[in-house]
Amino acid sequence: MLGRRIESSSYCKGKQLKLLITGGAGFIGSSMIRQCLARMPYHILNIDKLTYASSSKSLKEFESNLNYQFSCTDINDQRSLRTLFTNFKPTVVVHFAAETHVDRSITRASDFVQSNIVGTFSLLETASAYFSDLSAEEKQHFRFLHISTDEVYGDLGSDGYFLETSPLAPNSPYSATKASSDLLVNAWYRTYGLPIIITHCSNNYGPYQFPEKLIPLMILNALENKALPVYGKGLNIRDWIYVEDHTNALLRILERGRIGQTYNIGANSEHSNLEIVYNICDLIDSLVPHPEQISRRSLVKFVQDRPGHDFRYAIDNTKVRTEFDWQPNESFSSGLAKTIKWYMENADGWCRHILDQSQSKTIFKNREMKDSDVYSNEHSHEQTQ
Ligand code: NAD
Ligand code: DAU
Repeated sequence: MLGRRIESSSYCKGKQLKLLITGGAGFIGSSMIRQCLARMPYHILNIDKLTYASSSKSLKEFESNLNYQFSCTDINDQRSLRTLFTNFKPTVVVHFAAETHVDRSITRASDFVQSNIVGTFSLLETASAYFSDLSAEEKQHFRFLHISTDEVYGDLGSDGYFLETSPLAPNSPYSATKASSDLLVNAWYRTYGLPIIITHCSNNYGPYQFPEKLIPLMILNALENKALPVYGKGLNIRDWIYVEDHTNALLRILERGRIGQTYNIGANSEHSNLEIVYNICDLIDSLVPHPEQISRRSLVKFVQDRPGHDFRYAIDNTKVRTEFDWQPNESFSSGLAKTIKWYMENADGWCRHILDQSQSKTIFKNREMKDSDVYSNEHSHEQTQ
């Protein structure tokens, strides 16, 4: 697809950019808001329905910031969305809101269809109606940035990379709903001329991630000397990026990205799940030795594999690197060390709060494993040491 490039120096020059962010109380959205508020002149309206994965505490420091507003709203509620658009008058929409955990999509896909597909449709309808009433000059500046995932491309064998031109081939209910939302966003660009940009990022890690995803779950379980459930043989590979490196790329795309384009974001940092879990064990052992002086690697338990488990994701990030002169600041080891430190410092605060708040609604099988879940304690340990 062709696109129009807007130089950062001319984009909304002299104006306060008004960002309507959906899902800003979640992991990546809250990192984006922290970065935006540190970089004037953004004014932000965060629309989030506050699911189990979010916490009002994640953005507590901005509650009295005059450049920040919050609305507890479901993106499926079009009437409220219309009012919020009319009153706030956004220059840009950044759409993060989604159900995001693959395992949950396997046990209960309906929430994913509702938020990721129907919710995106509802947001597109509202944004389109709002866009059509803007002046010619306002239309020039308007953007709809849709945050998607590399999982829409399906999975890879042991070689190859996802390119922006790779076909959509999602495998899980989660990735199928994200791919569907990408198709809707593209249709609103072609049919109604809504100025959209789509991004596909790889696996994020860092502070404020709900501890059901691999890295924060393993950190908290290891700190509490609980079992560490590794799916299958632990050999599946993900391409990891520190969350601030992702949101930093998004800011560049927001300011200089070409309308109608897709950008893949990744940090060239592929690791198998078992390698990551062992890394976490070793780092935590060095910081807080196990009370019985044993290696936390012994807490690893191999459990039933995820159905349809994607083997490998890997992003070719050439486009985003060359077009925006972007590169990640964190190596995997520096990012992981920062992340572990953050979870240790916030175990009794943010982590306890978000777990207590969610516990009433959800059972965390992977936090409290039963012996019957384990099929081996030793499977492939030698292969990955
Ligand atoms: P998250 O689960 O931490 O946060 C999602 C946020 O969306 C939550 O605050 C939740 O309350 C909100 N939300 C969900 N449904 C909503 C609805 N119907 N209305 C309003 N708000 C709703 O997710 P995340 O990891 O921060 O992911 C954010 C986006 O980035 C998602 O679209 C995800 O697909 C995409 N993404 C995530 C990763 C990753 O590794 N986490 C990688 C690439 C892309
Ligand atoms: O690639 C981007 C995607 O990354 C995002 O779009 C998703 O929102 C995000 O959740 C993430 O999906 P994954 O399924 O890759 O992430 P998760 O942390 O759930 O799992 C990472 C890998 O670790 C995966 O191969 C499954 C495995 N795993 C996960 C958990 C929770 C385990 O072995 N044990 C576990 O307990």
